[in-house]
Amino acid sequence: MKILVVGGGGREHALVWKIAQSPRVQEIYCAPGNAGIQEHAQCVEIEAEDISGLLRFAKKNEIDLTVVGPEAPLVAGIVDLFQEAGLKIFGPTKRAAELEGSKDYSKRLMRRHAIPTADFNAFDNLERARGFLETSTFPTVVKADGLAAGKGVIICHTREEAFEAVKVIMQERAFGNAGNRVVIEEFMTGQEASVLMFVDRNTISPMPAAQDHKPIGEGDTGPNTGGMGAYSPTRFVHKRLEAQIEREILIPIVHAMNREDRPYSGVLYAGLMLTGEGAKVLEFNCRFGDPETQPLLMRMKSDIVDILLAVAEQKLEEVPPVEWDDRPAVCVVLASGGYPGSYTKGYPITGLKEANAVEGVVVFHAGTRMRGSSVITSGGRVLGVTALGDTLEQAIARCYEAVGKINFEGVTFRSDIAAKAI
Ligand code: AMP
Ligand code: GLY
Repeated sequence: MKILVVGGGGREHALVWKIAQSPRVQEIYCAPGNAGIQEHAQCVEIEAEDISGLLRFAKKNEIDLTVVGPEAPLVAGIVDLFQEAGLKIFGPTKRAAELEGSKDYSKRLMRRHAIPTADFNAFDNLERARGFLETSTFPTVVKADGLAAGKGVIICHTREEAFEAVKVIMQERAFGNAGNRVVIEEFMTGQEASVLMFVDRNTISPMPAAQDHKPIGEGDTGPNTGGMGAYSPTRFVHKRLEAQIEREILIPIVHAMNREDRPYSGVLYAGLMLTGEGAKVLEFNCRFGDPETQPLLMRMKSDIVDILLAVAEQKLEEVPPVEWDDRPAVCVVLASGGYPGSYTKGYPITGLKEANAVEGVVVFHAGTRMRGSSVITSGGRVLGVTALGDTLEQAIARCYEAVGKINFEGVTFRSDIAAKAI
């Protein structure tokens, strides 16, 4: 088979790395890819958002299966476009991807189908949003409705902060059109967890739970990022919670999408808050998580191509259950100095070979590219150092041993990834 992976981050490197292990695969292409991905795949200079360029490429190169990493092409309708052309593709349609593309849609859907989530109100008018905040209690959470790369959520401890947040989103348009509407929701407390599942319209296959670390700073301080590290499994999602999540969230959301005539296919990611009243949904994402995918795929024992293809063909029911390694895996993200704010690119990275040589470790690349024969930084999140271990402690120790061997100007990472699980 010939497979095309769309995207160029750490998640896509993990996907390409795992796909390359399948005996069914002859050629892998990745658009646009990165310096790590090019070891397993032919990188193609087409941006992930250029969905018609990707279609032309897939037709010309007779791609058997396309796997989409990021949300933007899904929300733009890449799956519809490929399916109309008779090409196989893994991911939800544009209508189904609205589950991530619009928080307002997603929250209303959860409300209609009684899926546990924080109480909320949505506004497309600044004055009404302000009026509502006059009578709110604090803290409260203000969110841009549309896609904002994980940065459109502002936790507000006071009314003044909330007024400011609404202004930044709706008036100053810090997130562009994503700020046409705001969602204002109840503040929840608890541990967070990411539960991803493979879905076709009839069958679900949940993956083991993972935990992300969104804030840039140790002890979960500072601004949110795309994710500074993740590990799986997490003891916070114990057996009883796992059952509640499946019964009250995972199965109902698939039924809800069918009933609303937006059947879901691909990976569905439930971002959860584990509250005293059970798990509640923070958000749904219509794709694999980044960095959750890196530890998850290190733990996957099955051939991922069998699963991706079965989902794309709506035959998930026919493949044997996905097998997972019991051993835990941890991923520590190395980011550019200044991220998630502005940062400089183009610094050479050293120690990659030595880090990869640490037992149980794979270094997944995110924002990297080649300059001559050296690997240089080219994004905010640069690398995801990932390790399996017999215990979580061992996986953590292996990760940080490998992290210690890598260097680039301004390298930034959290030294407490997975620490709260010990
Ligand atoms: P989201 O993109 O909606 O998942 O939000 C990003 C992050 O903001 C989450 O991972 C939480 O840490 C935080 N957050 C979002 N919504 C809430 C909420 N209702 N209560 C508390 N924290 C929240
Ligand atoms: N790690 C968070 C996300 O992928 O959205």
